[in-house]
Amino acid sequence: MMDEKWSSRLMFILAAIGSAVGLGNIWRFSYMAGEYGGGSFIIVYVLSVLLIGLPIMILEFTAGRHFSCSLSQTFGKIGKGFAWISAIPHLLNFIVLSYYVVVTGWTLAYLFSSVFVNYLPLAEYSQKYSFLVFTPITLLFIFVIMRTSLRDGIETANKILMPVFFIILLVLVAYSLTLPGLGKALAFYANFGSITADSAMAAVTQTLFSLSVGAGIMLTYASHLGKKEKLASSAAIVAIADTGVALLAGIAIFPIVFTYGLNPAGGATLAFDTLPLAFMQMPFGNVVMPAFFLLLFSVALTSAISMAEMMVADISQKNDRKTSALYATVAVALASIPSLLSYSFVNLKFAGIPVLDFLDGDIVVMAAPLVALMLVTVLGWGWKGFEKESKKALPEMLFMPYVLLIRFFIPLALLALSLSRFTPK
Ligand code: PHE
Repeated sequence: MMDEKWSSRLMFILAAIGSAVGLGNIWRFSYMAGEYGGGSFIIVYVLSVLLIGLPIMILEFTAGRHFSCSLSQTFGKIGKGFAWISAIPHLLNFIVLSYYVVVTGWTLAYLFSSVFVNYLPLAEYSQKYSFLVFTPITLLFIFVIMRTSLRDGIETANKILMPVFFIILLVLVAYSLTLPGLGKALAFYANFGSITADSAMAAVTQTLFSLSVGAGIMLTYASHLGKKEKLASSAAIVAIADTGVALLAGIAIFPIVFTYGLNPAGGATLAFDTLPLAFMQMPFGNVVMPAFFLLLFSVALTSAISMAEMMVADISQKNDRKTSALYATVAVALASIPSLLSYSFVNLKFAGIPVLDFLDGDIVVMAAPLVALMLVTVLGWGWKGFEKESKKALPEMLFMPYVLLIRFFIPLALLALSLSRFTPK
């Protein structure tokens, strides 16, 4: 087994933020805030981060550092014969990564085209042969980062890409604050719609996705920690950074959307079709557009490598890092083909929708709460050292509330969420 450690607590926190901050923060959060009642969605989301996301992150950090090994080994140590259960979170992680690399490829394609060729909407650009090369390039990046050591690979990638991302984000925010659409953008946020069961569920699912918790990614990252690190405060920093970035991204994006009279619809459409139209009209647009896609590429790649690390950690039980990185990359490359083809001249569909949308919108939305429920149950109930290790990780007054959240409130909330997903409306 590899026994690599982060070079410092700061590097660990940076990598965890790199995992959490992703494409989900840039367009998914802002869009949901608009769709589900603006300010009230934000309040529900923050509550869901505090009561569900943050405790799960602390749980993953605690177990990760304590066992200091891959997810399946961790499960195996918790209970004899438990190791195979880790196949379930692994499968979810693998599915997400299989299409996440494709979308990361799009960010690279648009970065390239915004510098060298004219802008094309996604529906047109994706029909070109050349569009297909960007996913393999993304996979190559991932392979090179993963096969290098933890410190020279993942740490270096985060050390370069995260500052690039933060600087571009802050510049975009500053720019958007000067736009005439700012008033409308703030009004979009400040409308306090009523909170429905639907919006609360959307907030919880978004929490799991955005914080990268519930599937063992943060556990794997924390397995590379030394014994003394402060866990609860590290988790709090990651959660605050992730939520802060989501809010800032909205402040960067919506003034542009409203100033140029665009439709604040979310998802891929906003990032790849709508915003570029604004970039082409605005002063300095030829600088803002590549900067925006570089920002998207940076956050996407740092999230993708966290998913890849979860695979590499388990494969490297029997192989060295280089071989494990190769196996993981080849597996992801093969699995990415259907998603890749769904946005190509093949237009591969499943159940009438592009495979990528099906995986992202249906499979993941349904599976994420269930997988998180399983992970929380195994760690909160099955792991004998849970209370002892939690005591070490938390300030004393938070210990009891935390145990109650992990053992009762969160499983019940996730169960309710999953059940409601499976009942037809
Ligand atoms: N948290 C990332 C985002 O917001 C996505 C992600 C999900 C990364 C699951 C790792 C695991 O986009």
